Amino acid sequence: MKKNIFSIGATVARATFACAAFVALSAHAAEQPNAALVAHGEYLARAGDCIACHTTQGGKPFAGGLKFDTPIGAIYSTNITPDANTGIGKWSYDDFARAVRQGVRPNGDTLYPAMPYPSYARLSDDDMKALYAYFMHGVGPVQAQNRPVDIPWPLSMRWPLGAWRVLFAPKVQAFDGSHYNDAIVARGAYLVQGLGHCGACHTPRARTMQELALTDLEGDDFLAGGGPID
Ligand code: HEC
Ligand code: HEC
Repeated sequence: MKKNIFSIGATVARATFACAAFVALSAHAAEQPNAALVAHGEYLARAGDCIACHTTQGGKPFAGGLKFDTPIGAIYSTNITPDANTGIGKWSYDDFARAVRQGVRPNGDTLYPAMPYPSYARLSDDDMKALYAYFMHGVGPVQAQNRPVDIPWPLSMRWPLGAWRVLFAPKVQAFDGSHYNDAIVARGAYLVQGLGHCGACHTPRARTMQELALTDLEGDDFLAGGGPID
């Protein structure tokens, strides 16, 4: 009998604890509706190493300004914090998804493929939504003006980048892991080919700078090494 009372007591205690936890979670959810999504977005941002390119040494996280030398001059990564005026705070989800997966800014300009959007094109809509939630709600806004490119006109015009993009960047399409016959291998392929953008450095490039293969299905050059490293 005693045992039963104890076990009832334990059940009640567990239930009370669960309720309290639930209330605590709901209270938290009320002020931060996408807490789980934001946390997942942070995990994805780490997998994509966004911070490495979008932060200068000693600079504020994601405030941009890191220099990339290209054969025609230097470009600088941009402020991707949610600051409304100098960052991406006013960007809609569609603006963000288009820039990250297709390399197109809201004003229609094409990004330099130093931003590895040909790899990020593989990201699922769900992962894009989590990344957006993180950059809007998990990253602190930093006021930092983007630096213009150090490339002389007319080479600074961006329309040739648009032509490059149309010729060489893949269309956004859902990742199909079915031919890997193993869920864990498929998950790894999704990370390596997509967020990890391993090929951006580990796959050799053509003279026109596109990676010779963006997946293992496109040939032996994928991850074969010898890509130029800035
Ligand atoms: C290998 C370096 C690199 C990595 C990794 C990288 N970026 Fe970028 N990104 C850049 C550069 C450089 C630019 C600016 C390109 C230009 O000026 O055309 C850029 C531009 C952008 C832009 C456009 C911003 C604007 O104001 O036009 C967004 C949004 C962006 N990156 C988001 C991300 C996210 C999210 C990740 C991680 C999933 C990421 N980037 C990872 C280099 C990188
Ligand atoms: C920004 C460029 C860059 C990206 C992106 C990158 N790597 Fe690397 N990786 C390098 C360079 C450069 C080396 C060689 C470093 C050295 O020789 O010290 C290297 C070395 C390695 C090595 C050691 C290989 C050896 O023979 O010693 C492994 C393994 C590796 N990378 C895996 C990956 C994976 C997996 C990814 C994607 C998740 C990745 N790399 C993304 C640039 C990159």
